[in-house]
Amino acid sequence: MVELKTPDELEKMRVASAIVASTLELLRKKVKPGVSTMELNRCAEQEIRRRGGQPAFLGYRGYPAALCVSINEEVVHGIPDAGRKIGEGDIVSLDLGVVWDGFYGDAAITVAAGRVKPEVAKLLKVTEQALYRALKTIKSGARLGDVSHAVEEFVTPTGMGVVRDFTGHGIGRRLHEEPSIPNFGQPGTGVVLKSGMTLAIEPMVCLGGAEVIVKNDGWTAVSADGSYAAHFEHTVAVTENGCEILSAIQD
Ligand code: MF3
Ligand code: CO
Repeated sequence: MVELKTPDELEKMRVASAIVASTLELLRKKVKPGVSTMELNRCAEQEIRRRGGQPAFLGYRGYPAALCVSINEEVVHGIPDAGRKIGEGDIVSLDLGVVWDGFYGDAAITVAAGRVKPEVAKLLKVTEQALYRALKTIKSGARLGDVSHAVEEFVTPTGMGVVRDFTGHGIGRRLHEEPSIPNFGQPGTGVVLKSGMTLAIEPMVCLGGAEVIVKNDGWTAVSADGSYAAHFEHTVAVTENGCEILSAIQD
């Protein structure tokens, strides 16, 4: 069952997601060579709490931090580490969740530290554009397969790999709700979207093959071939004519 949110519940998700968005924007500016991934985590947790939210990832299935920081070939779920410093030319994925009054928001961006190779810059562009292509297909009456297919259809011709081992998800009173939202699929299939559904759409793309491996820490997912990977995510609410991006940057 995919739960529909009431206007009051959507308002809480708007607040949670706005805290995610503004915290990610703050972190984006801090991504520089020499900064440790733990410093980014501290900054994230402090900003979330300053705005009255709680870090959603901290303690989730035993995850030890507020923020996931995944560098270069790390795809998702990199654990902050005081000894891990960002280097010139790295790409840094920042994934953040917030709870506000019992409701969740979740979003991710990938940021370049200094100058990156042209193909890496293209990876970031393609992954972010794939997210927006997917969001464009969302409206009441569309099918989940339409959303999934949009990512696959956009990314595959570039020769980059769409990660299949992790998916987007419903979100609301829990971080992960139904439905699971793969980044590949057939149009015209799957759950029929309805106004009031809230979804986290999150394409993950590798420059090389799509296969990923989870490291011995039990969390960090890396590309099997060592190629760089990017991740962009938004929390959205389905509306009659499209979707509202709850985690869009404000101001
Ligand atoms: N945005 C990711 C997701 O939706 C991160 C959650 S994993 C966590 O799956 F353990 F860090 F919370
Ligand atoms: Co998510």
